[in-house]
Amino acid sequence: MSLPGVTSDAAELEPPDAAVPGLVLLVDDEPLLLRSLRRILEAEGHRTAMAASAAEAVRWFHDPDLAVVLLDLLLGPTHGLELLDRLRAERPEVEVIVMTGDASIESAVGCIRRGAFDYLAKPFGDIYRVKTIVAQALERRSLVQRNRELEEELRGRGAAPALIGNAPPMRALQRTIASLHHNESHVLVQGESGTGKELVARALQANSPRAAEAFVPVDCGALPETIIESELFGHEKGAFTGALGNAGLFRIADKGTLFLDEVGEIPPSVQAKLLRALQHKEVRPVGSTSTVPVDLRIISATHRDLAGMVKSGAFRTDLFYRLNVVRIEIPALRERREDIPLLVHHFLRKHAGERSPVEGIETDALELLSRADWPGNVRELENVIESALALARGPKLGVADLPRSRGRAGVAAPSLEHLPLDLQAYEHAALERALRESRGDARVAARQLGIGRSTLYRKLAHHGLAGRSHRDDSELTIR
Ligand SMILES: Nc1ncnc2c1ncn2[C@@H]1O[C@H](COP(=O)(O)OP(=O)(O)OP(=O)(O)O)[C@@H](O)[C@H]1O
Ligand SMILES: [Mg+2]
Repeated sequence: MSLPGVTSDAAELEPPDAAVPGLVLLVDDEPLLLRSLRRILEAEGHRTAMAASAAEAVRWFHDPDLAVVLLDLLLGPTHGLELLDRLRAERPEVEVIVMTGDASIESAVGCIRRGAFDYLAKPFGDIYRVKTIVAQALERRSLVQRNRELEEELRGRGAAPALIGNAPPMRALQRTIASLHHNESHVLVQGESGTGKELVARALQANSPRAAEAFVPVDCGALPETIIESELFGHEKGAFTGALGNAGLFRIADKGTLFLDEVGEIPPSVQAKLLRALQHKEVRPVGSTSTVPVDLRIISATHRDLAGMVKSGAFRTDLFYRLNVVRIEIPALRERREDIPLLVHHFLRKHAGERSPVEGIETDALELLSRADWPGNVRELENVIESALALARGPKLGVADLPRSRGRAGVAAPSLEHLPLDLQAYEHAALERALRESRGDARVAARQLGIGRSTLYRKLAHHGLAGRSHRDDSELTIR
């Protein structure tokens, strides 16, 4: 299915190439004018898309390639100014050129004040002037981008991972991360499974004064209570194999950042020792009589309601306050659905290999994905795109390529009528199967089950399957 009135193939993927200047969206309710503009701009080598109404235009607002919008101000029921404001708010990096028959100076000035790049009065005295203005808008855009890149390089932020999202809470999150770049406070990141807690932790680290130092992740939910203390603080007698086990992660992360993932799973006995280490900035390796100084920043993450755990006594209040100097909450994906198209494009680029026949996604498939609830959040969405890509024949992902559970139209869910209602038993069986099929590889098993690795570890422990995985694959004990 293609969008009415839209002839561009902009939803398809272009190879990342600095020479491709981005997409020019033409918004006007006069089809004739749209076509002439398109002809002129395409002759200049621009990629264009056309929209004959506000509703059609809005569909392109989240296209990551969108670079310039030529916007008719007198656009049906939704006045173009509203679209201008929306674009400025949602895509501040996109340049907008307004066009209108109302060639009064006030409206021109008003638009520029509201953030438009320039103004074209209709009827055009010289329609070819549009070439010059679009070229200038693209030029400014690339200058702004280049400046931003240089600034980031100067601040040593080159390696910061891409945190995709334009929804207001995600933009607020990006601003928080940027504003913390001189700050070394401990940070607590809260969010449901798969919302991007680790990604945010890495972004915080890459954007901090400790960016050049180590980032050491430790999954507290995956470590059995008996070894967590020596993993964190080290062990005198070297009873554990490998230097990691001996030195302890605190010392490995010295001067850098320690990422305590699933911090809510740390047992009370270790909570006390963790608090001591943070208060005194030193650790005492298990079995040792002396302490070792450490200097690190702790970023911790949890999907749990840690404040609630404090109230119920499951988590130490004093430790909570130490860890929770800055708190970051990542909203669930269903609370920021407008980010789904951006994320889908991002994951298509990330996972479509060079030889993949897939170049984009059909609109109806994208709409289906945007409507789904995503209990496993961004991770689940990424898994769906990755597995759809593996089987799709292209050139665009369609509804038929998506897994049934994503609400594929016309395909009924398998009937559960004759099965016993015992969720625990299903979960146990699913875990066993995933362990078997992945040969104990936590990464693969978690992906198959559509859950995060820490959730997997927790569930394995709950079902008494944890020991087995530790024996099968040492990777399961850490990371
Ligand atoms: N905003 C985002 N932009 C791009 N990729 C994202 C974003 N959020 C999450 N991801 C991707 O989704 C996957 C899951 O993210 P991450 O591991 O950070 O989530 P998590 O909250 O730590 O999950 P879990 O609770 O399961 O451990 C990763 O591959 C990550 O790169
Ligand atoms: Mg995680």
